[in-house]
Amino acid sequence: MAVVLKSSKEIEKMRRAGHVVRQVLERVSATVKPGATTADLDRIAEETLKEFGAKAAFKGYHGYPAVLCTSVNSEVVHGIPSSKRILKEGDIVSLDFGAIVDGYYGDSAVTVAVGEKIDPKTEKLLKITEESLKKAISVIKPGATLGDIGEAVQTIVEAEGFSVVRDFVGHGIGSSMHEDPQVPNFGTAGRGMKLKAGMVLAIEPMVNAGKPEVRVLKDGWTAVTDDGSMSAHFEHTVAVTDTGATILTA
Ligand code: MF3
Ligand code: CO
Repeated sequence: MAVVLKSSKEIEKMRRAGHVVRQVLERVSATVKPGATTADLDRIAEETLKEFGAKAAFKGYHGYPAVLCTSVNSEVVHGIPSSKRILKEGDIVSLDFGAIVDGYYGDSAVTVAVGEKIDPKTEKLLKITEESLKKAISVIKPGATLGDIGEAVQTIVEAEGFSVVRDFVGHGIGSSMHEDPQVPNFGTAGRGMKLKAGMVLAIEPMVNAGKPEVRVLKDGWTAVTDDGSMSAHFEHTVAVTDTGATILTA
């Protein structure tokens, strides 16, 4: 499949979808506290989405059963919200959400601490993962390559002794949630496809405190670290502009 370049009109639609995604993630983040269940978070996300009159991107996608992905502690991505999963002080939870507005998608994720007593190493994991996303976005401009993005993430992450997940990658996004190209969070600067104005990419580093290997649980969705270490995930939908990049989910 070829990369689909977007017009400025399409990018404005995606910015509207991105705005909804941001509002939902902010509302859900504010709901994260000890005693809340991940099903509570999914319900808040669905209610907020309704207020905006937008459509859920994840629900029904290959049979995914919720509007939000909630991945706790050693869960990397695609955790399914459950009324049995009660968040507790010291947990971290990745909140990954997608919306469709006028046929166009926005996709973003944040990882937040539950309560106030977060372990310093885990706090560092959140900080470094978010920083690696910001750094990756900062290298985006026409003529830069996918390898520039991958190397930017990998360098920051590995300098802290953390590791980049290989089995899941970022992606092009537009009138479908997943388009070409794939956007790995590892690589070599100067290698890979060249970026062009009008490309829209979901950049989403997934970072483990321990080893990079992951496995998928029997529910068919939840990816967890093989070694049980903590994992964090941050994501933005980003458009390549004539001079650099603009974050559509800001
Ligand atoms: N941000 C994730 C992705 O890009 C969300 C997909 S979850 C799913 O793949 F449930 F929709 F699959
Ligand atoms: Co994504």
